Amino acid sequence: MARDCEARLVSRERLTEDAADLRFELAQAAGLTPKPGQFAHMEAPGVFLRRPVSIAGFDPAENTARFIVRAAGKGTRSIAALDPGETIKILMPLGNPFPTVSPGGDIWLVGGGLGVAPLMYLARVLSETARGLKSFLGFGDRKSVFGAAEMGGLSEMTLDVGGLVTDRVSEALISKRPDAVFSCGPKPMMGTLKKICAARGVPLYVSLEEHMGCGVGACLVCACAVRAPGGTAGYKRVCRDGPVFDAREVALP
Ligand SMILES: Cc1cc2nc3c(=O)[nH]c(=O)nc-3n(C[C@H](O)[C@H](O)[C@H](O)COP(=O)(O)OP(=O)(O)OC[C@H]3O[C@@H](n4cnc5c(N)ncnc54)[C@H](O)[C@@H]3O)c2cc1C
Ligand code: FES
Repeated sequence: MARDCEARLVSRERLTEDAADLRFELAQAAGLTPKPGQFAHMEAPGVFLRRPVSIAGFDPAENTARFIVRAAGKGTRSIAALDPGETIKILMPLGNPFPTVSPGGDIWLVGGGLGVAPLMYLARVLSETARGLKSFLGFGDRKSVFGAAEMGGLSEMTLDVGGLVTDRVSEALISKRPDAVFSCGPKPMMGTLKKICAARGVPLYVSLEEHMGCGVGACLVCACAVRAPGGTAGYKRVCRDGPVFDAREVALP
């Protein structure tokens, strides 16, 4: 059950030119159990609507939640510019997480750019149970890279800078077939991944991003096109029915 928490920024670390690693202490965190893939709807000072941000970590012992925020526009800019000690409201956890996998499985994570953020939390959780946890991280250029050291410590990591991370996944798939692939990143990247995984019969789950209004399923701003297994086309809400979907269900370029 999501809770609207009073959240005090306890640390802000600059990761890249425009992205920051933010940790908030949540006043009402007791009993919260966010799962990797879920997101928070964060108040952005001076901006009317809240902004959705993936949960990049959660520490129940310290009641802290972690977010990687890239200053893309006025909302994320005002969140990334918060100073330690400042307080905002954060509604979390929202949406459906990545599916639970049986312990001992071979799981691969594929992240592109900011899409690496939710995979950092997922890698931390899966590193305790997955047998062969691999991660493939792709960034457009060297100055956008973040999280590589952390992901390298939690998984067998491949880093691609300036190329196509999906090429690295294709190469790895020649000799190995994981039990599932979990991904977050630009839609074209996930579209290519969908084709690659389908060709090898590997289940793929993707986390989608859409513009959001309410964040809780009421306004339909975040609708995305879906296709049921029987072929029926329709729409689903990324905030309530996602953001994580079975890739077979969603339209990707
Ligand atoms: C489920 C989910 C998880 C997300 N996780 C993160 C995260 O961990 N870290 C992070 O920094 N951002 C994340 N985002 C994206 C973030 O919410 C948007 O960048 C933000 O809403 C843009 O608001 P703004 O006011 O900063 O920019 P605006 O001024 O509103 O827009 C700036 C630019 O960003 C584009 N934009 C706006 N919203 C989105 C969106 N939802 N997806 C893609 N482009 C958008 C606009 O078209 C415009 O080009 C996530 C979005 C979703 C839906
Ligand atoms: S943002 Fe309102 S229904 Fe999804």
